[in-house]
Amino acid sequence: MYYFIHKIAMFYVIFAIPSEENITKYLRPVVKNKPLFYLMGMSEKKSIEDPRVIEHMFDSIAHRYDLLNRMLSFGIDTRWRKKLYRILDLQPGQKMLDLATGSGDILKEFLKTNHIQGFGCDRSGQMLGFARKKLTDRGMPSLLVRGDAFRLPFKDNIFDAVTIGFGIRNMRPRIGAMKEIYRTVTTGGRLAILEFFPRQTGFRGNMYKWYSTNVIPRVGKIISGSNFAYRYLPESIHGFPEIEQFEDEMSAAGFTIDAVHQLTFGVVSIVVGRK
Ligand SMILES: C[S@@+](CC[C@H](N)C(=O)[O-])C[C@H]1O[C@@H](n2cnc3c(N)ncnc32)[C@H](O)[C@@H]1O
Repeated sequence: MYYFIHKIAMFYVIFAIPSEENITKYLRPVVKNKPLFYLMGMSEKKSIEDPRVIEHMFDSIAHRYDLLNRMLSFGIDTRWRKKLYRILDLQPGQKMLDLATGSGDILKEFLKTNHIQGFGCDRSGQMLGFARKKLTDRGMPSLLVRGDAFRLPFKDNIFDAVTIGFGIRNMRPRIGAMKEIYRTVTTGGRLAILEFFPRQTGFRGNMYKWYSTNVIPRVGKIISGSNFAYRYLPESIHGFPEIEQFEDEMSAAGFTIDAVHQLTFGVVSIVVGRK
């Protein structure tokens, strides 16, 4: 019952944080008043490929998401997001979309300077709720929109940059999402993906694999209460393509690869493509 009431209460597509300019003008008219389908319950039969299952999973861990990120990465995840901000080096007045924004940590980095117009989009209403609180508390104007990467609620050619941090892994088929992003990016605009790539070999690679398959699921379960979410995390990383294959997918979606940055001994990488 609580879940049902909650879903009705979340029956809004747009979480707009007041700003001087009404940036909703960048939304496609068709989605302005049209809520997405909401999952009312999750059947065991639904596959992890189903975006509604992913959404439900993130809804269920949203309240512990930031805490677990800090704990499981020993705080290094914050540095990875700062690095993404520095690499893109956006200029005042430029527009960026943080897709799969989750609790808004990437958006927060980009909005610190106050010169960039920031948008966030995510399927999970719960994660967006935490992003909204975080950004409002810091007085950072932005537009948070509940939406799906495969059917973005934005007009064509508006973003100078789109970022996705630890989100593309959940989007299948990835190339479909990247083509949809391509539509929304200006000519010359960039897509920057921050992600775990299953590349590490040798001692470091084995340590990382041991940590991700033994420690992450256990700690994740204790803190978040979800048995599933933090078991899914390492599985999704191990099932993810290596960087070279991922670059091919990005190219097939229309982007030219601009740069690849490996961080923390290759535990994560940032791949930048240009339209
Ligand atoms: C691991 S979180 C990453 C959050 C944030 N980017 C960060 O750096 O912490 C992945 C996010 O992707 C979102 N997501 C997954 N599939 C999506 C889709 N098809 N469309 C939009 N968001 C999606 C989830 O709801 C979740 O909030």
